[in-house]
Amino acid sequence: MSANQSSISRLSSNNDTDLNTQQVWTAVDDYIEAHLVETNPILEKTLENTARQGYPSHLHIAPNQAKMLTMLIKMNGAKRILEFGTFAAYSTIVMAQALPEDGYILTIENRDTHHALAVENIENAGLSNIIDARHGRASEVLQSLSDDTPAFDFIFIDADKQSYPEYLELSLKLSRSGTIIIMDNVIRAADIIDPENQKPSIVGLRELFQVLENHPQITECTAIQTVGCKGYDGFAMAIVK
Ligand code: DHB
Ligand code: MG
Repeated sequence: MSANQSSISRLSSNNDTDLNTQQVWTAVDDYIEAHLVETNPILEKTLENTARQGYPSHLHIAPNQAKMLTMLIKMNGAKRILEFGTFAAYSTIVMAQALPEDGYILTIENRDTHHALAVENIENAGLSNIIDARHGRASEVLQSLSDDTPAFDFIFIDADKQSYPEYLELSLKLSRSGTIIIMDNVIRAADIIDPENQKPSIVGLRELFQVLENHPQITECTAIQTVGCKGYDGFAMAIVK
C-alpha cells in the first residue's frame, strides 16, 4: 500500500477521528449555533420527540447546516421543495419554515417507522398544510404524481446513499432551469476515495460523482467537505441547466 493509500484508510476506517478532534468540531458547532442560529421551540420539540422514541441524533442535519438550507431556499425564492428521505422531518420542518405561506414540500420516506415519526413531528409543528409526507419508494411515489405536476425549485436528497444516482435522475425529471439540488453525506469521512471500501452506499456515492460530472442537464456542481458535530462528511450541490 502506498503512503497515500495507507493514510486514506487510516482516515476513513471509521470511529478513528481522534476523540479530541471530534470534541473540538462539536464545540465550534456549538459556538456557531449559539451566535448564529436562533432558538426554535418547534425544532427543539422535534428533536426531543425523536430522541425520546430512541432514534439517534446523528441522522438529522446539524442546526448550522439547517440554516444553510434555509438561506439557499430564501436566496432562490423557492416555493416548491422535494425531499428524498424524511427521517424525523427535522430538515423538512426547517425547510417549511423558510417557505412563504403558499409554499409546498413533498417529502418521501420508505421506512414505515420513520414515516410515522415524521408525520407526528410535522403535526406537532403545525405544518401539515405545507408538508406532504408520503410513505413509499421514491420512484413509485413520484410516478404517482399527475403529469402536470409543476417543477420543484429546490431538492434535498438525504436518503439511502446507494440510490443517490437514481434520486438525482428522478430529481432532474421534476426540475426546471435553475432548480437547486443539494445532496447530503457525500464524503462519509473520506470513504469515497478509499478504493478498498466497496460498501453499496459508498459505491453509490462514487457513481453519483460520475453522473454529476458532465451531466448534460446540470450547469454547475460542486461538493464541499464539512466537519462538525456530525463528524466528517459533506454536501454536493448542483444547479439544473
Ligand atoms: C448518517 C447521517 C446522515 O445525515 C444520513 O443521512 C445518514 C446516515 C450517519 O451519521 O450515519
Ligand atoms: Mg443526511
